[in-house]
Amino acid sequence: MDVNGSAAIISGGASGLGEATARELARAGATVVVADLNEERGKAVADEIGGVFARTDVSDDEQVQAAVDAAVATGKPLRVVVNSAGIGWAERTVNREGKPHSPASYRKVIEVNLIGTFNLMRIAAAAIAKTEPADADGQRGVVINTASVAALEGQIGQLAYSASKGGIVGMTVPAARDLSAIGVRVNTICPGIIDTPIYGFSANADEFKAKLVAPVVFPKRMGQAGEFAHLVRALIENDYMNAEVVRFDGGIRFQPK
Ligand SMILES: NC(=O)c1ccc[n+]([C@@H]2O[C@H](COP(=O)([O-])OP(=O)(O)OC[C@H]3O[C@@H](n4cnc5c(N)ncnc54)[C@H](O)[C@@H]3O)[C@@H](O)[C@H]2O)c1
Repeated sequence: MDVNGSAAIISGGASGLGEATARELARAGATVVVADLNEERGKAVADEIGGVFARTDVSDDEQVQAAVDAAVATGKPLRVVVNSAGIGWAERTVNREGKPHSPASYRKVIEVNLIGTFNLMRIAAAAIAKTEPADADGQRGVVINTASVAALEGQIGQLAYSASKGGIVGMTVPAARDLSAIGVRVNTICPGIIDTPIYGFSANADEFKAKLVAPVVFPKRMGQAGEFAHLVRALIENDYMNAEVVRFDGGIRFQPK
């Protein structure tokens, strides 16, 4: 599907993978709604790419509805949904002091990463359903979700994060089946170690990133956000990619830690 002349909504579009995707899709001719909690960065990105910023907490149904309304209000048919908002979390099931994992932090990660993805996917798809088909196949749009290789091989302390991302992987096939009725494809990307602000900018962050990169097979480096955006665009543009979970990780297979 060609995104030129369409509206696209990108959660987490103010930073990292979402920001790179927002820029890529704008370059391809889409009008992008940057839906993010970060007002300052979100507005700056939206302004630079001729898009629209919608302050959105993806775990809040009403705010997600408002962001989708903003996409519809662009006057361009909404055809692309990219779920990239997400938070990391590290906590063991039982920590070294024998204390069990906090249920509040577990719920928070599930709410942002998993329910947030579900929210934008369902609410945006309802809006996409109201558009005219874009081609002879009856296609109306594409959803790209962002999980993680931690969905498949979570490391020590990734219980909550892996559960949230595993849920996104699990939703991929049923969502693609449900949304086939309205001509929408659904694919999920599982990134490995991609260089974004999610790791922070301290000296510790550099040390942490170097450790993470060690098991990458090739090329022996972190992935770049622009490479992720390129994959998103390829999955959108290739009409036969559907219900797929794609690893994007330089061949990494996580060890326990
Ligand atoms: N960078 C990696 O190595 C990597 C690897 C695997 C998966 N991922 C996933 O990719 C996605 C993007 O990560 P990133 O590396 O670009 O991180 P990032 O921190 O650079 O960007 C995440 C964005 O999401 C926004 N956000 C957070 N909570 C939100 C909420 N409740 N509502 C709306 N927006 C919210 C943040 O404001 C931020 O702009 C995340 O889901 C992350 O889990 C990243």
